[in-house]
Amino acid sequence: MCGIIGYIGKKNALPILLEGLRRVEYRGYDSAGVATISEDKLHVTKKAGKVAELVELMDGNNSSSEIGIGHTRWATHGIPNDINAHPHWDCNQEIAIIHNGIIENFSSIKTKLQREGHQFETETDTEVLAHLIERFYQKTNDLYSAVRLSLLEVKGAYGLAIISTREPDKIIVARKGSPLVIGIGEGENFIASDAAAIIDHTRQVVYLEDGEVAEIRRDGFFTRDLIHDEEIDKEIEEITFDLEQIEKGGYEHFMLKEIHEQPESIRNTMRGRLLEEEGTAKLGGLDSVVEKIVNARRIILVGCGTSWHAGLVGEYMLEQYAQIPVEVEYASEFRYRNPILYKDDVVFFISQSGETFDTAAALQEAKQRGATCLGICNVVGSTIPRASNSGVYIHAGPEIGVASTKAFTSQLVALALITLMIARKKKTIRKDEGQQIVKELLSLPEKVAKVIEATTSQVRYIAEEFSDATNFLYLGRGYNFPVALEGALKLKEISYIHAEGYPAAEMKHGPIALIDHNMPVVCIAPKDSTYEKVLSNIQEVRVRNGRIIAVANHDDEEISKLSEHVIRIPQTLDFLAPILSIIPLQLLSYYMAVKRGCNVDMPRNLAKSVTVE
Ligand code: BG6
Repeated sequence: MCGIIGYIGKKNALPILLEGLRRVEYRGYDSAGVATISEDKLHVTKKAGKVAELVELMDGNNSSSEIGIGHTRWATHGIPNDINAHPHWDCNQEIAIIHNGIIENFSSIKTKLQREGHQFETETDTEVLAHLIERFYQKTNDLYSAVRLSLLEVKGAYGLAIISTREPDKIIVARKGSPLVIGIGEGENFIASDAAAIIDHTRQVVYLEDGEVAEIRRDGFFTRDLIHDEEIDKEIEEITFDLEQIEKGGYEHFMLKEIHEQPESIRNTMRGRLLEEEGTAKLGGLDSVVEKIVNARRIILVGCGTSWHAGLVGEYMLEQYAQIPVEVEYASEFRYRNPILYKDDVVFFISQSGETFDTAAALQEAKQRGATCLGICNVVGSTIPRASNSGVYIHAGPEIGVASTKAFTSQLVALALITLMIARKKKTIRKDEGQQIVKELLSLPEKVAKVIEATTSQVRYIAEEFSDATNFLYLGRGYNFPVALEGALKLKEISYIHAEGYPAAEMKHGPIALIDHNMPVVCIAPKDSTYEKVLSNIQEVRVRNGRIIAVANHDDEEISKLSEHVIRIPQTLDFLAPILSIIPLQLLSYYMAVKRGCNVDMPRNLAKSVTVE
C-alpha cells in the first residue's frame, strides 16, 4: 500500500505534491519521491525515509512546474533505498511513473525488455512499466495508447500515474485493485490514492473503478475502459469525510480498518504465488533454500507476541503436511537457552515489523551456530529480512494498530504457502490434494469478508454484555489452540481484561478451577478432527456454569444447546480454520475495548515494535 498524488494546473505543483505526500504517509513511509516537468525536462527527486526527509532535500528548490506526480512507498519488491524509491523512468528519462500495487509478471517482461536493450536501474516491479510504455510509445507516438497497450500485458494490481516530457499537458492514470481518485478543480486537477491527499484543494472527486484508464488535463479529463477502449461517463461526487476519517478509511480506529482489510491483505499475500494447475505454491524468496528446507533435520519457528502464535499454527501445518519435525520458540527465551542447533536445521524468524529486538538478536545467535536463517516479515527491507539468508514477505501492507490483526492472518497464509510448497516438493501430499488446498486458499478472502460482515453486530452485542468481565478463558484444540492464545492476547492488549488461552483438554488440569457463573469461556470449535473432543470439554465448562461463547460452523446445532452465544464461521480445511476463527475474536476484543473506553490503536504500556531488549 503506497500513497500517490498528482497535480496539473496553473500553480507550482511541488508544494502541492509535498503536502499531499505528508497526508498519505500513513499508507507507506519507507521512501518518497516526486517528478515534475519544466523546460521540457523531467525532474525526479526521491529519497529513502520519511516524506520530511524528501522535503528537506528539496528545500531551496525553486524550480516551478505546473505538472507533477508524487509517491510515498510501502516496499514490496526491492528494499527501501533512494534508487528503488518512486518515481521510476524509462531509458530516455522522458516518461515517469508512480505505482501502488504489485506487478506479478514483472520478471518475465523485464527479461524480454532487457533483450531489446532496455537498461534497468532498480529492483522494483514498477520500473518495468516505464520501459514497457517507452516501447509502445515508439509504436503509437501517443502516451494514452502506450499506457493502455502496456497495461494489457501486465498481471497484478495497480493504481498508477504517468507523465511524460513528450506530452507535458496531461497525466495518465489507471486502476486495478488499488484505489485512485481524480480531484476536480477550477482550471486544475488532481489525482491521488485517496482523498486525504487533496482534501485541502477540492471536495469534488471522481472515483476510478478497476479496469479504468483516464487522461487528466488542467481543463478536463476523460475515462475509458482498458479492455474495450470505450469512453465511460463518470459521476463527480462530494467528499463528506474529514481528514482523520479518511486516513482511517472511514473506520473509527486503524485496528478496525485493518480487521476489515484482511480479505485484501490475504489476497496480497497469495498474489502471484499459487500455481493452481500444479497444486502447489511458488515463493521466489525461498528459491535458493528450498532443498535445505525439504531436507531439514528440523524447522524452528521463532517470534514474539502474535508472531509467536502464528508460529504455533505453522508447527501444526508443517508437521501434518510436510512431515518435518518443528519446534516453536519465544525469541527472548531461545537466545539465552544456549540452543542446540545443527547445520541442517532451518530457522524461520517471524516478525511483522522485522525490527523486534529479541527476534533480531535470536537470528544473530542462530546464524552464529550455522543454521539456515529465514524471515517471514511484513516490512520490506527491515532488520530481520536484511539479516536473514532468504525469506517470505507477507505483503499485508502497513499495520498501524498496535494490536496485530491482518499481519497475523497473512502470517498464517504465508506459513500455509510454505507448507504447501514443501509438502509438494517432498511428495508428502499428492497433486490433487495440493489442488484442493490451492482452491481452498483462493476462497479464503471471500470467506473472511463473509465472517466480518455476518458476525460484527452479534460480536458487538456480546461485547456489550461482557464488557464488565474481569476474566476470560479461551479454549481450543489442535490448530485452534494457538487461536485461543491469540484471542486472549488481543483482549489483554487492548481492553486490559485478564484472559488466558488454553488447550481445551488442558483446562481440566488447572484452569477449570476458575470456572463459575461469572467466567466467560470462549470455545473455538469448528467441525475439524478434534471437534468431538472439544464438545466434551465444553460440556465440562457447562456443568460448572461457565458462560460459553462458541465459535462454530454453520451446520452445528449440537453446540447451540451448550452455549450462550454461537458465532458462526464457514467450513474450511482444518489447517486453514484459524484464519477464519480468529476474526470474531479480533472483533470481540475491539468492541470490548471501545465499550470500556480504551485507546484501541495505542493501548497503554505497548508498542507496535519493541526494538529494545
Ligand atoms: C509487540 C506488538 O510489541 O510485538 C505485538 O504489540 C506483536 O502486536 C509483537 O505481535 C511482535 O512484533 P513483530 O513485529 O516482531 O511481529
